[in-house]
Amino acid sequence: MQNQMEEERPTGTSNLVFAVNGHRFELSSVDPSMTLLEFLRSHTSFKSVKLSCGEGGCGACIVLLSKYDPLREHIEDFTISSCLTLLCSINGCSITTTEGLGNSKDGFHSIHQRFTGFHASQCGFCTPGMCISLFGALVNAEKTDRPDPFLGFSKLTVIEAEKAIAGNLCRCTGYRPIADACKSFAADVDMEDLGFNSFWKKKESQEVKISRLPFYNRNHEICTFPKFLKREVKSSLPLESKRFSWYKPASIEELQSLLDTIDANNGVQMKIVVGNTGVGYYKELEHYDKYVDLTHIPELSVIRRDQSGIEIGASLTISKVIEALKEEWKGEFLSECKVVFKKIAVHMEKIASEFIRNTGSVGGNLVMAQRKHFPSDIVTILLAAGSLVEILTGTMREKLTLEEFLVGAPFDSKSVLLNVKIPNCESIKNISPERNSKLLFETYRAAPRPLGNALPYLNAAFLAEVSCSKSSAGIMLNRCQLAFGAFGTKHAIRAWKVEEFLAGKLLTIDILYDAIKLVKANVMPEDGTRNPTYRSSLAVGFLFAFLSPLINTICNGSVNRSINTLMFNDGKSKQNYDCLDHVKFPTLLSSARQVIQINKEYHPVGEPVTKSGAALQASGEAVYVDDIPSPRDCLHGAFIYSKKPFARVKGIEFNSKLLPAGLTALISFKDIPNGGENIGAKTIFGPEPLFADEFTRCSGERLALVVADTQKHADVASSIAVVDYDLENLDRPILTVEQAIKRSSLFEVPSFIYPKQIGDVSKGMAEADHKIISAEIKLGSQYYFYMENQTALAVPDEENCMVVYSSTQCPEFAHAVIAECLGVPEHNVRVITRRVGGAFGGKAIKAMPVATACALAAYKLQRPVRMYLNRKTDMIMAGGRHPMKITFSVGFKSSGKITALNLDILINAGIYLDISPVMPHNIMGALKKYDWGALSFDMKVCKTNLLSRSAMRAPGEVQGSYIAEAVIEHVASSLSMDADSVRAINLHTHDSLNSFYDVSAGEPLEYTLPSLWDKLATSSSFIQRTEMIKEFNRCNLWRKRGISRVPAVHEVMLRPTPGKVSILSDGSVVVEVGGIELGQGLWTKVKQMAAFGLGSIKCVGVGDLLDKVRVIESNTLSLIQGGFTSGSTTSESSCEAVRMCCKTLVDRLTPLKERLQAQIGSVKWDMLIRQAYLEAVNLSASSFFVPDLASMRYLNYGAAVSEVEVDLLTGQTTILRSDIIYDCGQSLNPAVDLGQIEGAFVQGIGFFMLEEYTTNSDGLVVEEGTWTYKIPTIDTIPKQFNVEIANSGHHQNRVLSSKASGEPPLLLAASVHCATRAAIRDARQQLYSWGCIDSSHSTFNLEVPANMPVVKELCGLDSVERYLQWKMSSN
Ligand SMILES: Cc1cc2nc3c(=O)[nH]c(=O)nc-3n(C[C@H](O)[C@H](O)[C@H](O)COP(=O)(O)OP(=O)(O)OC[C@H]3O[C@@H](n4cnc5c(N)ncnc54)[C@H](O)[C@@H]3O)c2cc1C
Ligand code: FES
Ligand code: FES
Repeated sequence: MQNQMEEERPTGTSNLVFAVNGHRFELSSVDPSMTLLEFLRSHTSFKSVKLSCGEGGCGACIVLLSKYDPLREHIEDFTISSCLTLLCSINGCSITTTEGLGNSKDGFHSIHQRFTGFHASQCGFCTPGMCISLFGALVNAEKTDRPDPFLGFSKLTVIEAEKAIAGNLCRCTGYRPIADACKSFAADVDMEDLGFNSFWKKKESQEVKISRLPFYNRNHEICTFPKFLKREVKSSLPLESKRFSWYKPASIEELQSLLDTIDANNGVQMKIVVGNTGVGYYKELEHYDKYVDLTHIPELSVIRRDQSGIEIGASLTISKVIEALKEEWKGEFLSECKVVFKKIAVHMEKIASEFIRNTGSVGGNLVMAQRKHFPSDIVTILLAAGSLVEILTGTMREKLTLEEFLVGAPFDSKSVLLNVKIPNCESIKNISPERNSKLLFETYRAAPRPLGNALPYLNAAFLAEVSCSKSSAGIMLNRCQLAFGAFGTKHAIRAWKVEEFLAGKLLTIDILYDAIKLVKANVMPEDGTRNPTYRSSLAVGFLFAFLSPLINTICNGSVNRSINTLMFNDGKSKQNYDCLDHVKFPTLLSSARQVIQINKEYHPVGEPVTKSGAALQASGEAVYVDDIPSPRDCLHGAFIYSKKPFARVKGIEFNSKLLPAGLTALISFKDIPNGGENIGAKTIFGPEPLFADEFTRCSGERLALVVADTQKHADVASSIAVVDYDLENLDRPILTVEQAIKRSSLFEVPSFIYPKQIGDVSKGMAEADHKIISAEIKLGSQYYFYMENQTALAVPDEENCMVVYSSTQCPEFAHAVIAECLGVPEHNVRVITRRVGGAFGGKAIKAMPVATACALAAYKLQRPVRMYLNRKTDMIMAGGRHPMKITFSVGFKSSGKITALNLDILINAGIYLDISPVMPHNIMGALKKYDWGALSFDMKVCKTNLLSRSAMRAPGEVQGSYIAEAVIEHVASSLSMDADSVRAINLHTHDSLNSFYDVSAGEPLEYTLPSLWDKLATSSSFIQRTEMIKEFNRCNLWRKRGISRVPAVHEVMLRPTPGKVSILSDGSVVVEVGGIELGQGLWTKVKQMAAFGLGSIKCVGVGDLLDKVRVIESNTLSLIQGGFTSGSTTSESSCEAVRMCCKTLVDRLTPLKERLQAQIGSVKWDMLIRQAYLEAVNLSASSFFVPDLASMRYLNYGAAVSEVEVDLLTGQTTILRSDIIYDCGQSLNPAVDLGQIEGAFVQGIGFFMLEEYTTNSDGLVVEEGTWTYKIPTIDTIPKQFNVEIANSGHHQNRVLSSKASGEPPLLLAASVHCATRAAIRDARQQLYSWGCIDSSHSTFNLEVPANMPVVKELCGLDSVERYLQWKMSSN
């Protein structure tokens, strides 16, 4: 392979030529399976393009692709996922990555600057992709003929700006600041709506605000297609097919003869491709000898419209089809048909994300559905529209109905789909005898994310022709086409029996009821499908939503007039939907408010300084471990993991046919050097092996490491490894906590961390008026979903030394483990960590084996070895949060006052100790937020044959806090009281807080929760909204709202932390701390503290010290005893360590400064330092902050109110509004803390509402990628998101009066869960009133996560049938 980075080259080559950020690349050969991402990351310096999911589901890898059409002199620009796009497909194209927009040397782009100023980048791993999404939207908005916007703005609209990032995942920020950065470019933005930023102050005028925004110059935008490439595109030869194994037929005839020449029996593997996005779903391992790219055949890339309908060429992208279907045409079609086309387009906009729709073709989608049963949306909606397809087999062209196509034999690799045709609906009407009729068309999908980027549980589309009945005032359904798909069958179906039943019927409740019974019988998921009854209930719900409005419509004379308003105004059934719904909630974030107090006392500490390195993260210059260029001869590793929970491992083999070249070694426990240990991780509680020995003890356990020449080869080899397991004479594995108890498989919890019981529970129970005995709750796991997967690079050095670059939260422990594993002294190992692309606890213990395995392989092979886990392996090996089972008994008075609580908690810790022994302590730390009267518990940490569970943001605390809420909700239900009153009556006084928390409770003034609680009620209008919700629920049948206010108390502990501050001869300052920058803003706070600490020398120029401070990477030989970065307190303890260093330095400098001052008057900082150098003052100071035992623990307080709306037909929960108040003490940096609060809350929403992280019967993780694991996206966060940081003044024992913010706000997301519960309670009350459930309806368990199937089940899987029965019986 040869590539050149020069701008001008002779034209007329048949090589692969393209541009990246204006640089020319020419390749004379390339593996045709190479993706654009692989090329950019391994062959160019453009490392901003990040690999996160590798399957099109996250947006970390997106780039802007620009195509030039020399005939029309037109450039097309659109975003694509580089992880799926094949390099050969971009011949003649230009790529823009975020590096191409600007950089630190030539100046950042206003996108980078605004991301920085709106505090929209934390770990930064998602930021380059976000920037490109926004850039793509800006470029395309500028091409519209909209009026010119105000200077500094673009033609983009607010809605487009938010939608631009709808397919991008961010695990840190909670999206609100990202939305603000994007919206700041929109022509129609109201500056008042833009959130907290570093550009302006709140009260400044509109004009001033605009002038402060980094200027966006529409007229000097980036050139996305360089001139030299235009010239080459005009004159260059096509890519030489043979050399590249990449064929681009230019006509159907050429395609036919090409397919003819490929003899499958000859063993030649050939693949037809268009966008190649299908690979994101079917992770193919096959090697293809030839690729046939269909995008150059004009017939497959056009849309034809005539009287008979619209014919869509198979290789047209979904985006192009949407555009065409939305176009306004004059004449040609009836307005009803145009509505059909538009609705198809609107549905298609919910497919995947924009960057997938931009390359994914309609034909590719249909073939995936036909050949491999992909749960397609397109098939379902086209099926209902009665579409036809044309296929080519050999020389034969054949037209089929879409249904015939679907049920036919699976498409072979040489058959081609040519086009799909949506017929003119006039043809449908024409066959009806009824002239005065109307066509109705609707599409539906129920998916975890409203805007798409999530496959549906079920989709449906209905076309119906209706007219007024001649004999009654009702509506006749003359005929209909009903399609259902994606519900767990091989392909979408037409519900023929239902269609036949409904045809010619007058629509009545009875008819609808019978139709629905037929739907249930016909829309049946296949065995093994998840949530089968839920999916059937969706089918019922959708048909009900479609037809029920017609039943109540009085139709006399003109069907058009009667139905028009009903069906076509907003496209969905409006029956019972509008009552009191004055505020229309859009799909995206509509408003947000941030209330912050800035404290100047310790300037610049307390200022909302922008995150250190944010602009570099946005421009892609920030270097993460996998961005470090590979050293010479570097090898790559991939783990082979166990798929059995307990087995003897007899051997590992590879299927030689599929084995890629470049395999170098297979490293296992047998390769541990003499004197070394089989150790992969350790905590203060004990070690965990690096590799399984002869036995594997859990699914997901590391068995071996495959080492190969590239990451791709290592990944392929590990995925085809065949492990020989032997189960003979082995005990059955323990997978559940119940089994663990039965077999006494428990970990010991050291008594010093086991929490203490409080009061006398028997006495408390005796005092109670009521009791709930042995109620049960179960809590599942959660995956970290850091955007940067686990990664490390190990480089052997002289004298048995090893340098390891690791993305870890605790380099100190990784260091010790590596030394122990290799059997070398610790001074032979150096672990370096600069920044981590998100961690959330998952890179504490779980990063150690990754670093250790690389080090072991590097040690053995004496070559550098690196590893970047793919998302699937990462998800399977991560462990995640601790699942648990809770049984509780509670006694309480009639007033709601709880007198005693007893809990039995079984914690599933998995196979190794990890940090599990701290779980009882953490659970209790948050559960004690209420005054339970007396509290007793028995908590067992169960050892099971599952991967060891590890710390995840608020480990144990989130469960403890939730358990407390579940108890409160149960008590409220059983007393028929509102839960808020029960909460209020059980909040602690400072006295009771003292008895529950001892010294952590602090002084009475520090107990701010009661005031936060009251303040929040006022700021969120809690009482008024509670009343409004009652009214809303009274008059809405199929939507119910709920509201809930929840407090949080979270105990944290400071740990010893080192620091080192050195002043260099030019006055610049370098700082090292024990804490790691994970995105949480630790470096920023540390910089502020260094500037504050050194500033106390009070000489001229110290005001600029912030710009002179650099915090550098952690290096375990330079600064020892770094400890863990976890538990929310590392920022403050690192700051304190820095403050101590600064004090030492200031003490050393003060005599000199005073002397100089006496001599020359004012002393400048630079001069002072120069003189200090001359006078040999020691300008490097180290410290080790050891917190005072009496004040090392303290409590954090916060409260949140959330309001949700539940759709009773689908179980979808929309978070209408969340208001949070959180006490940060005197925040060290309110911008950073705000980001932590919002980000933690949204991560908590993921835990409580969306994220299922389950295991199969072998204990292997089921959700292993973005297809099944759904973290929150911008369309699932609260529509109104208000956060107030309460400044609670002076806390003498805290670091400059500050308090933690990283984890505690996550607990507040329980408010969303409790609000959902409140809405469900009203839904169940309604079911009860229809006579569907018994009087115990108010006592129910809402699982975590409360996802759509869970919510729908509680609202009644058969609620529609029950409602109709009730209606029929009451008529
Ligand atoms: C992250 C993600 C989310 C998605 N979400 C959804 C969703 O919510 N709903 C939905 O409906 N779809 C969804 N999709 C599927 C998406 O629509 C398809 O991946 C895309 O349309 C396939 O088009 P392509 O051009 O990339 O096909 P390719 O990947 O190029 O091809 C797919 C398959 O079809 C074959 N093929 C392609 N065209 C032809 C042809 N004309 N004749 C014969 N064989 C052909 C190829 O050989 C290959 O086997 C999603 C995809 C991704 C990656
Ligand atoms: S890495 Fe390409 S979309 Fe996630
Ligand atoms: S900042 Fe978005 S993933 Fe970390």
